[in-house]
Amino acid sequence: MTKAKQITNICCIGAGYVGGPTMAVIAQKCPYIKVTVVDVNEQRIADWNDTDLNKLPIYEPGLADVVAEARGRNLFFSTDVDEAINEAQMIFISVNTPTKTYGVGKGMAADLKYIELCARQIAKVSKDDKIIVEKSTLPVRTAEALSTILNSTGNGVNFDILSSPEFLAEGTAISDLHKPDRILIGGEETEKGQDAIEALVAVYENWVPRENIITTRVWSSELSKLTANAFLAQRVSSINAISALCEKTGADVDEISRAIGADSRIGAKFLKASVGFGGSCFQKDILNLVYLCRQFNLPEVADYWEQVIKMNDYQKHRFAKNIIDSLFNTVSGKKIAFLGWAFKKDTNDTRESAAIYVADELLQDRAEIHIYDPKVTEEQIFSDLKSVCHPEGSEATKDLLKNVIIHTDPYSAMQSAHAIAILTEWDEFKTYNWQKVYEEMLKPAFVFDGRNIVDKKQLTEIGFEVYNIGKGLN
Ligand SMILES: NC(=O)c1ccc[n+]([C@@H]2O[C@H](COP(=O)([O-])OP(=O)(O)OC[C@H]3O[C@@H](n4cnc5c(N)ncnc54)[C@H](O)[C@@H]3O)[C@@H](O)[C@H]2O)c1
Repeated sequence: MTKAKQITNICCIGAGYVGGPTMAVIAQKCPYIKVTVVDVNEQRIADWNDTDLNKLPIYEPGLADVVAEARGRNLFFSTDVDEAINEAQMIFISVNTPTKTYGVGKGMAADLKYIELCARQIAKVSKDDKIIVEKSTLPVRTAEALSTILNSTGNGVNFDILSSPEFLAEGTAISDLHKPDRILIGGEETEKGQDAIEALVAVYENWVPRENIITTRVWSSELSKLTANAFLAQRVSSINAISALCEKTGADVDEISRAIGADSRIGAKFLKASVGFGGSCFQKDILNLVYLCRQFNLPEVADYWEQVIKMNDYQKHRFAKNIIDSLFNTVSGKKIAFLGWAFKKDTNDTRESAAIYVADELLQDRAEIHIYDPKVTEEQIFSDLKSVCHPEGSEATKDLLKNVIIHTDPYSAMQSAHAIAILTEWDEFKTYNWQKVYEEMLKPAFVFDGRNIVDKKQLTEIGFEVYNIGKGLN
């Protein structure tokens, strides 16, 4: 085997939730590597370059410190995509791969148009050999398509393609990147492919022990990421399915999680019942897996995984319906306070957040919704409601959205409310003065805790009617 080339210049295309934090940590841990993160979204790049670190486009605990350490030293954010590609020896692709909203595979397959655009741009601009790293989550065998595009220019430039999916979780991205359970790198089994793998291994070895770096063939690496997300989402749907049964039987879902999680074959993580999982990845990646299975004529396998999504939709609907049923079968004209809009705590990401779907069901029943989230902007909330629930500009949408009011103070959101719905597990919700909240609400004062985070006993003693997930009968 020839000696792997030492990488001193990296470019990352896509300055989002994956590209930004991942490259910030690579730059922090490898001061000898120049890392340039590029994006076509000018505002996003301007926000990454803002001297006020509170204005970074992504909220993640610890991220601002890492950016402060590396930015301007060996970490750069730029809109000049061509120059960064040209300079780099290794190019990470971290662009978005949403579910297709049109044509063949609509609603199921991953939309690879952003990936394809990147490949075409890399092919056009590159003057010397490059290692291309797929960081985005991609359907199995995408590397083959990338290779076809990249190697069809005929200009003599040589591209090696690696798959290195990212396993960070939003909300804990920096600690996940600092101490990953594993780094996965898939490459070709040829000598060239193995050299490319070793070049990327050498980057990660600056802070990740070699035994935690797994190398595989490309297809296994691509499929591992979809499989990991499918297994994680399946655990949430499984415990949520049991939560519905608990509510009918008087069993307590948190007690069940503790009991089964103690079994080392099952494990304790990801067994928290909730209003349903959200985030940009679980749903789209499972739909993508389901689509792949159908394409390969495996309908039983496809149906098996699709049920994970159906259970999640059911859980969100069940939560909204319970609010309407409990408030005497209608929420029309009633004030419902939402605590939380992000899909989980410690992130400002709202993609596929359960809150969006619960809000939509309540708005259809003519509720007035007052929303407070510590990190999500008003602009983002309205954009979510418009893009996910209602076509922009329609009269019906305008009428419904008149009933949405955003607050920057949680107490004003809850004042004179008929009910409070907790949609995100932000820690600060546990520490509110619930006595004061109760006194200022209409009675009976309902709390629907979609994350099982407030102290039910304490709130019930104050006088609230409390509904938790998976704790029906008292
Ligand atoms: N968000 C997560 O927690 C997470 C975790 C692991 C993997 N992933 C995967 O990583 C990928 C990126 O996810 P994300 O959450 O960072 O998405 P994102 O939408 O936050 O960021 C993607 C960025 O790519 C930019 N972009 C798109 N096309 C471009 C082009 N041709 N040139 C330059 N920039 C371009 C967009 O403007 C955007 O800023 C997805 O495939 C996702 O499935 C996400």
